Amino acid sequence: MRTALVTGAATGIGSAIATRLAADGFALAVADVDRAGAEAKAAALRDAGHEAAAFVADIADEADVDRLAREVLARFGQIDVLVNNAGITGPHGPFATYDRATLRRVIEVDLVGTLLCTQAVLPSMLERREGRIVNLASIAGKDGNPNLAPYAAAKAGVIAFTKSLARELASSGILVHAIAPGGVGGTSITKSAGTPLRDLGAQRTSVLATTPLGRLATPEEVAALASWLCSPDCSYTTGAVHDISGGRATY
Ligand SMILES: NC(=O)c1ccc[n+]([C@@H]2O[C@H](COP(=O)([O-])OP(=O)(O)OC[C@H]3O[C@@H](n4cnc5c(N)ncnc54)[C@H](O)[C@@H]3O)[C@@H](O)[C@H]2O)c1
Repeated sequence: MRTALVTGAATGIGSAIATRLAADGFALAVADVDRAGAEAKAAALRDAGHEAAAFVADIADEADVDRLAREVLARFGQIDVLVNNAGITGPHGPFATYDRATLRRVIEVDLVGTLLCTQAVLPSMLERREGRIVNLASIAGKDGNPNLAPYAAAKAGVIAFTKSLARELASSGILVHAIAPGGVGGTSITKSAGTPLRDLGAQRTSVLATTPLGRLATPEEVAALASWLCSPDCSYTTGAVHDISGGRATY
C-alpha cells in the first residue's frame, strides 16, 4: 500500500498533512516524540476509515530514527513519501547570550533530524526507484529572523539540503521539495488559527506589517501544498522551495 511517513504528525502542520495524505489514499505512519499524541492521531485516522499506525521517535536520535524506518517498513512494506515536518523553534532571544544547549538542540532537531530521517528512509526508496521527500523549511531560512538565529540557520540548512539532494537524486525517480511557510495558525508556534487579526495582539502588528494577504495560513493550506507535491500531478519540479507565506516572501 502507498505509504506516507510524516514526522511530528501528532499536532499542528504535521497533523494536517497526515489527514490530507490519508484522504489522498496513503497509509499513514504517524511519527512523533509525543507517544500519546501520535497514538491519538493514528486512532483518529483509523476511526475515519484510513490505514494508520503510530510510531514514537526523537528525530534527533540516530538509533530512534533507524528503528523508526525499520518499524514503518516492517508494518507497511514500503515508504513512498517522507514528510520531514517535526521541528522546534527554540526560544526567542539575542544571539550573544543564546543558551548553548538550546542552540545545539534546535540545530539537532530541525537540521540534523531532517538529514537523519532522510538517510534512514532513502535506501528503500532508491531500491524501488521512486519516492517523494518533502521538507518543512521556513521563510526564516530565506529571510532570517532576528532573535531566532539558530532556527533560521537550521531552516536555511534544510533549504540547501533539499536543493543538494534533489540534484543528487534527479535520475533516481525520487523528487525532493521544501515548503517554506510564513506564519501558520493553530500550531504551537502561533496558536491562532482563525483568530481575527484584531485579536492577535503584538503578533497582529508583525503579521500585518510583513504579510500582504494580512492573515496567517491555516495548517490545511500547507497540507494542500504538500498533497500536490506528493501527487502524480507534480512531475516536473524538484529541488524547489515552495513559498506559502501570504505574499511575504520576495523570492
Ligand atoms: N507554525 C508556523 O508558523 C511555521 C512556520 C514556518 C515553518 N514551520 C515549520 O513547520 C513544521 C511544523 O511546525 P508546527 O508549527 O506544526 O509545530 P508544532 O509545535 O505545532 O508541532 C510539531 C510536532 O513535532 C513534534 N516534535 C518536536 N520535536 C520532535 C522530535 N525531536 N522528534 C519527533 N517529533 C518532534 C512535536 O511533538 C509536535 O507534535 C516545523 O518544522 C516548523 O519549523 C512552522
